[in-house]
Amino acid sequence: MQRCKKLKETKPHKYPLDEKVLVTCGLPYANGPMHIAHLRTYVPGDVFVRYLRKLGQDVVFFCGSDTHGTPITVKAEEMGVTPQEVVEIYHNHFKEILPRMGILFDNYGSTDHPLNHARTREIAQKLLDNEYIYQSNVTLPYCPNCQRFLPDRYLRGTCPHCGASARGDECDQGCQRYLEPGELLDPHCSICGAKAEMKETRHYFLKLTAFEGFLRGFLDGLDGTDIAKNYARQWLEQGLRDWNITRNIDWGIKFPGDESLVLYVWFDAPIGYIQSTEEWAMRTGGDWMHYWKGPGKLIHFIGPGIVYHHCLFWPAMLKGSGYSVPDAIVASGTMKVEGHVFSKSRGYVVWVEEDYLAYGLDPDALRYYIVSYTGHTRDLDFNWRTYGDKVNKELVGSLGNFIYRSLLFAHRNYGSVPEGTVDAEARQKVEETVETIRDGIDEYEFKKICDAVLGLADYGNRYIQANEPWKLVKESPEEAANVIHNCVWLTKAIAVLMEPVLPFKAEKVYELLGLTRNPPMEQALTPLETGAELGKPEPLFQQVPGDEIEALEEAMVIRITQAKG
Ligand code: MF3
Ligand code: ZN
Repeated sequence: MQRCKKLKETKPHKYPLDEKVLVTCGLPYANGPMHIAHLRTYVPGDVFVRYLRKLGQDVVFFCGSDTHGTPITVKAEEMGVTPQEVVEIYHNHFKEILPRMGILFDNYGSTDHPLNHARTREIAQKLLDNEYIYQSNVTLPYCPNCQRFLPDRYLRGTCPHCGASARGDECDQGCQRYLEPGELLDPHCSICGAKAEMKETRHYFLKLTAFEGFLRGFLDGLDGTDIAKNYARQWLEQGLRDWNITRNIDWGIKFPGDESLVLYVWFDAPIGYIQSTEEWAMRTGGDWMHYWKGPGKLIHFIGPGIVYHHCLFWPAMLKGSGYSVPDAIVASGTMKVEGHVFSKSRGYVVWVEEDYLAYGLDPDALRYYIVSYTGHTRDLDFNWRTYGDKVNKELVGSLGNFIYRSLLFAHRNYGSVPEGTVDAEARQKVEETVETIRDGIDEYEFKKICDAVLGLADYGNRYIQANEPWKLVKESPEEAANVIHNCVWLTKAIAVLMEPVLPFKAEKVYELLGLTRNPPMEQALTPLETGAELGKPEPLFQQVPGDEIEALEEAMVIRITQAKG
């Protein structure tokens, strides 16, 4: 019998275990249902949090709905309902669907929550008091037909940087740059198509230029992915401009100096991270200040399109109003669908409910695809052929197969954990995998982790194949028992080590093994209790038949074709 060893601390963690960590995921606009580009941020974020917790870290994990600005009002006009109604529909949708994908935030807040209105106005007031906000007259596009100013998504034109067709505040189809009001060339009203006129109006600006030195140092010390740091540095070198933080619309948070204006959605949206923390703190007795005004670590998981906002605007806002600044910004690579950059309007999208869960497809399989297909900062293409391959070969053929055949053999022949000793080699494989997981977490490389766990399952399959317990049962029952003991031990290890990626499946394995939920990482290496009863297993994953993949692909092609037409 091997002893229950504690995991060796072979090297220090990036985040020492005595530090508390707060992790957020970019807030989804509450203007449409959840899609695969959301998952590109939320699944890795959730996986990261689950691994940290398994390693013993105290982690809180927050998100919420982004409810203001023209993304919401344009949608409300399209649907013929109020902005409040749009927000309510999709806020409820996200709250309901996130746990079905195994994404478990400690709080899912809302930027329209009274706490966010209060916190946002407080931060704006601090910035005013500290003279980081000033007033200035500007000439901005106005629609003579709709008789209103055309902020952000009410405006389309040409990107002054790359020439692509762009919306008012973002080069959404080209270089992805953040655009200041008034910058867009050839501006037109996106609602009626009229050519915009230029009209003078008063706005408020955050003195971003005053933060240049601070931001340079901030980026030097910032942890996270290179995508975030390199882009932000590049923009900084190209020179900052002050940031227009107010808009001429009704829907939003009133600017504390002038109630006729609302704050730009990108001012109050990241403050939603604080709101979500405060809401959690009120419910649980937690300490929100520990993170936002104290030593707690702040880690933001985001998509690649919102690096500017998180690496430049947001730290300047926090710094200028006396809050803690982020420790890490983990920006992912681009999401693609069938080889094309993700686009709802062009049909390169997978809707999580409509195109996936509604077909009874496995949430764990999609989580696995997202974190295992490519490195976190590379482009991630989702296509149904690869999906079918990965499910059938990796999840069914390798991982599921090893666990199922091990548990089936054990259940049929013994009904409980048979007597045996864990081989030195098997133990070493598990120890190595644990090390790789630590590295993967420190590097934000979740593919590395998945590959290692899959490697462990492959090892198990080779082990069982080489030892042929089905022959040994007759020839040498003791040896057979020992082999199966090792297989069940490896099964436990795999379940513990894959749980953050495949939480629903790990849960099933724990049930069969009679283990309690959420075991710590150490439990991958603890001995089995000989004689412990084993449940009757079922295959963990379902093969996805070729014709089902074809049907799913076909549906995608139809959507893309319709989007063109
Ligand atoms: N709703 C924004 C988007 O989808 C992201 C907001 S992230 C936060 O692009 F910082 F504002 F929270
Ligand atoms: Zn551009």
